[in-house]
Amino acid sequence: MPLSSETALPPPDAQAAAHSRRVAERIAEAIVAEGDWIPFSRYMELALYAPGLGYYAAGARKFGAEGDFVTSPEISPMFARCFALQAGAVLRSVGGDILELGPGSGIFAADLFAALKEQGTLPERYLLLEVSPDLRERQRELLAERHPDDLSRFVWIDALPPKIRGMVIANEVLDVVPCSMLYRHGADIVERGVVLTEAGFAFDDEAIAQDELARRAAAVFPPGDYDYLSEVNLAAEALIRTVASSLEAGLAIFIDYGFPEREFYHPQRSMGTMRCHYRHRFHGDPFFMPGLQDITAHVDFTAMARAAEQGGAEVVGFTTQAYFLISCGLAVLVSAGDPTMTLSKLKGTSAVHRLIGPSEMGELFKVLGFSKKLEGPVLGFQSARHIQL
Ligand SMILES: C[S@@+](CC[C@H](N)C(=O)[O-])C[C@H]1O[C@@H](n2cnc3c(N)ncnc32)[C@H](O)[C@@H]1O
Repeated sequence: MPLSSETALPPPDAQAAAHSRRVAERIAEAIVAEGDWIPFSRYMELALYAPGLGYYAAGARKFGAEGDFVTSPEISPMFARCFALQAGAVLRSVGGDILELGPGSGIFAADLFAALKEQGTLPERYLLLEVSPDLRERQRELLAERHPDDLSRFVWIDALPPKIRGMVIANEVLDVVPCSMLYRHGADIVERGVVLTEAGFAFDDEAIAQDELARRAAAVFPPGDYDYLSEVNLAAEALIRTVASSLEAGLAIFIDYGFPEREFYHPQRSMGTMRCHYRHRFHGDPFFMPGLQDITAHVDFTAMARAAEQGGAEVVGFTTQAYFLISCGLAVLVSAGDPTMTLSKLKGTSAVHRLIGPSEMGELFKVLGFSKKLEGPVLGFQSARHIQL
């Protein structure tokens, strides 16, 4: 029985296709074992993180030109260098560690650490929380090559520490935390899940079992009785709440694509934000080659800010990636290498254009910051235009 739907996306090689079949079989087993229906969040969890099989848990290339997508740290070391000025200020103020969630290829950690070393503001430890054993290995290799004399400062951890002092950074992590998919049809809001059919995986809807999901959907969906599909990510909120309540002193910065609630649940966004990334194409079919493609959803930053406050932190800023990077001194960093650099010339350089261009990552990507016991202004939000949450 074919387990994935057919699309016009480029076919994988035989080995990758065989791997995807194993992932699909694992998901199919879970559907049968868990009552012939699983919520979309469970499908996403298995497709991305099933041990040894999921997209982030096995060996797919993922990042860069030969992978499926490119993230900001992969585009240019200037991205991490902007964070170095911010992190240096936090470390000077409260001391402690850098904690990076979902460090991916490890390139952000390597570039940030190099810049902190140049500045003379090294953290006590650089903690890396990575759920993927395969990515941990790649991070370790890269950091051993880039920072052989300081390798002992890099510490991989399995769970959030109960107490965090210093700076927490997560780029493009919230969008890959498994989300619930909710669908309004007529007057009812139901939960979208996945079943097995003769033709493979298919969507199927059931009554919402979790009270909080039902309450949230009723509160945030735009009024009306037209068909409306969207996502709610209670797991991402829980992650933010835990970071906020563990933060003793310091700053946490989450960067991702997304919107405040009023835009996320806009009447015109009636098809949801879930997208799949496969070899630099994006599309809306999560059943295409499970295990070989990324599955993501945009972030509702209002919900994330609320979760941070529930964890006892103060939200110190919410702005676009472009404003944040410029406020952190991107122009100064680039002009240090080229004194003739002006802001308009800067936007013309291709890496910078990709990081801050409004049609690239500059506006869709947002930065949310929250802190505890941190004195003084937060550099990245100091001269940035704040977006209302
Ligand atoms: C899209 S990649 C981004 C990687 C990197 N931050 C970058 O910008 O290139 C998502 C990363 O988050 C990790 N991840 C997913 N869920 C996580 C969680 N709950 N805690 C920590 N890391 C997580 C993935 O394994 C992966 O490393």
